[in-house]
Amino acid sequence: MEAAALSRIGLAGLAVMGQNLALNIAEKGYPISVYNRTTSKVDETLDRAHTEGQLPLTGHYTPRDFILSIQKPRSVIILVKAGAPVDQTISALSAHMEPGDTIIDGGNEWYENTERRIIEANEKGLLYLGMGVSGGEEGARNGPSLMPGGSFEAYNNIKDIVEKVAAQVEDGPCVTYIGEGGSGNFVKMVHNGIEYGDMQLISEAYDVLKNVGGCSNDELAEIFDEWNKGELESFLIEITADIFKVKDEHGEGGLVDKILDKTGMKGTGKWTVQQAAELSVAAPTIAASLDCRFLSGLKDEREAAAKVLEDAGLKEDIGTVRKGIDKKRLIDDVRQALYASKICSYAQGMNLLRAKSVEKDWNLNFGELARIWKGGCIIRAVFLDRIKKAYQRNPNLASLVVDPDFAKEMVQRQGAWRRVVGTAIAAGISTPGMCASLAYFDTYRRARLPANLVQAQRDLFGAHTYERIDREGAFHTEWTKLARKKN
Ligand code: 6PG
Repeated sequence: MEAAALSRIGLAGLAVMGQNLALNIAEKGYPISVYNRTTSKVDETLDRAHTEGQLPLTGHYTPRDFILSIQKPRSVIILVKAGAPVDQTISALSAHMEPGDTIIDGGNEWYENTERRIIEANEKGLLYLGMGVSGGEEGARNGPSLMPGGSFEAYNNIKDIVEKVAAQVEDGPCVTYIGEGGSGNFVKMVHNGIEYGDMQLISEAYDVLKNVGGCSNDELAEIFDEWNKGELESFLIEITADIFKVKDEHGEGGLVDKILDKTGMKGTGKWTVQQAAELSVAAPTIAASLDCRFLSGLKDEREAAAKVLEDAGLKEDIGTVRKGIDKKRLIDDVRQALYASKICSYAQGMNLLRAKSVEKDWNLNFGELARIWKGGCIIRAVFLDRIKKAYQRNPNLASLVVDPDFAKEMVQRQGAWRRVVGTAIAAGISTPGMCASLAYFDTYRRARLPANLVQAQRDLFGAHTYERIDREGAFHTEWTKLARKKN
């Protein structure tokens, strides 16, 4: 009997992302073996491979058959829930793998888990990659942004495949070898933190336009469509325009207005903020977006608070603010505020990556990271090309805020930015992301801050000492004694 031809690669874990990525790989001409513990998923994927164009995909029902169906050195992608399921899958599959074979985890995994698994895999002679995959279901099927980190040898084994499978932009496929260890997962985590920031800033723009500007959903759809033709052009702006166009099939008006205002989350944004704190990197816009998700979850408490404060005499000021508003100008101001806020948010994310890269010696290439985010992923945007160029001009850029081009843009937009935040504050509409970005900008750009006073306080109550601006050394002063000394 003729032996069946071996597959070029394998994929285990056939939930939404796994199925779509497997079909994408097969469609690019790489025969692929698939496996899932629940066998109905294997059949489902086989059916799809058949109906979506007789794709070269074979289904397997045991880990052994699956592994033995792949050509050596074997590369196996696993796409299961992060955490314990990854360890279970690795243990089931690696029992049949041989030295030189590779495991690639494509989940949103905590980078330290990947670093532990790299060591465990190496003990068996196996290679390991932790690969961030962004773009959701659609991206996985038609071209995601891929962020593989770990073994360079393993990357080279699958380079041809991932370069074909990834989204394509004018300057190449949206994939690059990120670096060693858990760098691929870390970069994906920060991508998600930035994603949180973008979504928060967009929701604030919506809030101001709707509640101060009085814009209807139809107007909002038009505004976002318009914005998507300019400097804000991006996936998130595009889908936001679409959201405003969808009517509620169960009643009057737009569907967006019927959605409960409670944001879910799976953890990567929280990890980003935790890492920023760990590395002493200020990431206030991303932190504000996380805080807003926490506060959004307190729906009952917020409803109760609204009542208590209303009873206490709080009146919404939206009406009075709205009266004097020039709607056309507000819309243009909000666009500019959104763009300037976004630059600050990306500056925070990139600086977090830089701090981690230094700590872990990952040697991350920030221009390349911006490039592979230009297509396929959730934060894809025209503006990422500008970030790429900023880092190409100066790989040691201290912050995007001081790139000469971005600096100019922020200065041009600061009037509008301040107007929007000011108007929102006057109307009682919270814009924590935009405020955090503006405060970040205003703090970072000032040569002298009131930190001198904090140092004096620390020295007064704790003798923590302070430095002086005019002479070297650490100083301590008996502040209280001097202040209260009777002349
Ligand atoms: C992507 C996304 C994706 C993430 C979701 C949900 O890049 O495709 O980042 O990986 O899981 O956006 O994230 P939250 O549930 O935490 O909002």
